[in-house]
Formats: sequence, structure tokens, C-alpha cells
Amino acid sequence: MIIQKNKNISHYLTLRNNVVAELFFEAKSREDLIAAKKYSLDNRLDIFILGGGSNLAVLKSRMDGLVVKNSYVDLKVIDGNEKEVKMSVSSGFPISLLIARSIQNGWSGFEYHQGLPGTVGGAVYMNSKWTKPLTYFGDNLVYAFLIDSKGREKKVGKSYFEFDYDHSILQKTKEILLEGVFILKKDSKEEIMKRAKFAFDYRRKTQPYGIASSGCFFKNYQGRSAGYMIDKVGLKGFSVGNYFVSPIHANFIINKGDGKREDLIKLIGIIKNKVKEKFGVTLEEEVIII
Ligand code: EPU
Repeated sequence: MIIQKNKNISHYLTLRNNVVAELFFEAKSREDLIAAKKYSLDNRLDIFILGGGSNLAVLKSRMDGLVVKNSYVDLKVIDGNEKEVKMSVSSGFPISLLIARSIQNGWSGFEYHQGLPGTVGGAVYMNSKWTKPLTYFGDNLVYAFLIDSKGREKKVGKSYFEFDYDHSILQKTKEILLEGVFILKKDSKEEIMKRAKFAFDYRRKTQPYGIASSGCFFKNYQGRSAGYMIDKVGLKGFSVGNYFVSPIHANFIINKGDGKREDLIKLIGIIKNKVKEKFGVTLEEEVIII
């Protein structure tokens, strides 16, 4: 294992928080992921698996322990008939590539996630969603292989994940996804592409892109859009230092570059206070806060 010390990982994070990992390792296979977990257990280190780094806000200047960039990219078709296809997809597989492959092959099930940055591991961990119509990344999962807290491989069925809005059991157990096995429906490439394009265009129209953000920062509250509420308290475009609320979609926090963690913390506090005052709603972060 090649472990790097004191590595700045800001370019692995879409919000570009400035942070140094005490130890850093890039895992390129399932064996690498298992070895990393064992290394962390043997050396009593915290371990953090980094997928696309697109749903994180790192408020610390340093992450102690081992940070593992998951670059395990593999997709195998296991079974299929004229109606459906069963496939194993590795946790480091990029969502954009998964959708491109789905469109090419006429596999339907992931297309509404077109435009979602990140990896399969992150999307399962978060149970990433699309709201028009409501679909979750975990919907098509049948079973999966995990690394448990003792570093052993474990096979679990879909119900194990307790999938819900922005929720999977992995957030509690911190088990590591190796591969997910999904069943997708076969459909015409044109229909799949149409749905993918709809989602992509909607995101492009209503959300900022091509700038440093971590997607929607807060969870919606009982079906009420956090972005709508932040907008209505007048915070669109509001900034603290180099962090600001997107003028396009108010649930996106943007880093203009070199944003300071104190400014991000202050901005989060202001957003929460204002929304609480006007709507009586306590916003909860959707991104993982470290
Ligand atoms: N709205 C505003 N101002 C804003 C933002 C939204 O008035 O600044 C209004 C919109 O006009 C619309 C309503 O609020 O009437 C809902 O907005 P939108 O359709 O953008 O959906 P959302 O509830 O704000 C959710 C997800 C997004 C996902 C979209 C589309 C959450 C926290 N957000 O946003 O997910 O892309 O639906 O499916 O659930 C993410 O996961 O990172 C994310 C951005």
C-alpha cells in the first residue's frame, strides 16, 4: 500500500474546502479497499472513504487517520433476459459513466441521476434522489457486498440498507460498500436518453454548475424545499467572505475560491437562524459535515 502523508485533498472535494489528510491512500480495487480497512484496524486509525467528494463540507483543517479515495471502477453484467439486466457495479464507479453506459446499452433505472456528480458508493450511502418523479438511487439495488466494522466481507439484501430520503444504514454503521448489484429494465435508448436529458436540463436550468459547491446543502423539510425557504428569507447571493449563497438556487453554497472555514461556519449559522425565525424550521445539513 502506498500511503501518502499530510496530503492536501481540497481538489478531491467539489466545495474545495482547504483540508489536509494525515494519511491518504487511493484504492483501485476491492482488495485495496479491504486492505485499507484492515490497515486502519491494525493501526487503530479512523478511516474515511472519499467517493466523488461532492456531498461533503469539511470544516476541519485536518483529517486525522486514513482518507481513502475510492477509485475502484468496475461493472459486470451478471445475468439478463429481454426485459431486464442484472449487474454488479463497484462503489468507486462514477455516476456520469454509469449513466453513459446505461444509455448506450438501453438499461433504464439510473437515468434521472444524470447530472449528479459523485460515485455509486456515495449515491448508495446518501440514497441520492431525484424529485420529478421521486426516485432514489437505492431503488434498483437487490443486494450488495460490504466491508463490515471488523474488516470482513458481508453480503446484504436491499432491506438491510433501510433506504429513505437522504438515508441509508451505512451512515450509521460506517460499513464500506464494495459492490452493489442492481436490476435495471431494458428500454429504448431514445426513451432513456429523453428522461436523462430532462433531468440534466432541469438541473442546468435551476441549479448552478461548473463552480465549487457540494450540491444541495440542507435537507428539505417535510417536503418543503430548503432552497425555497432560504430564498424567501432573502439570502440569495448573500456572502460571508468567499462563501456565498447561489443566486440561482438558494440551497447551494458556493466557494468563490480559498473560502475560510470560519466564514462557511458563519454562513451556515446565518442561514439556519433566518429560516428558523421566518418558517420555524430547523434546517439540517444534507451534506456530510466533517
Ligand atoms: N425554489 C425557489 N428558490 C430557490 C430554489 C427553489 O423558490 O432558490 C423553489 C422552486 O422554484 C420550486 C421549489 O422551490 O418551486 C422546489 O425547487 P427544486 O425543484 O429546485 O427542488 P428542491 O426541492 O429545491 C430537490 C433536491 C435536489 C434535486 C431537485 C430536483 C433536496 C434537498 N434537494 O431540490 O437535490 O436535484 O429536488 O429533483 O432534496 C442534491 O441532492 O444535492 C440536490 C440538489
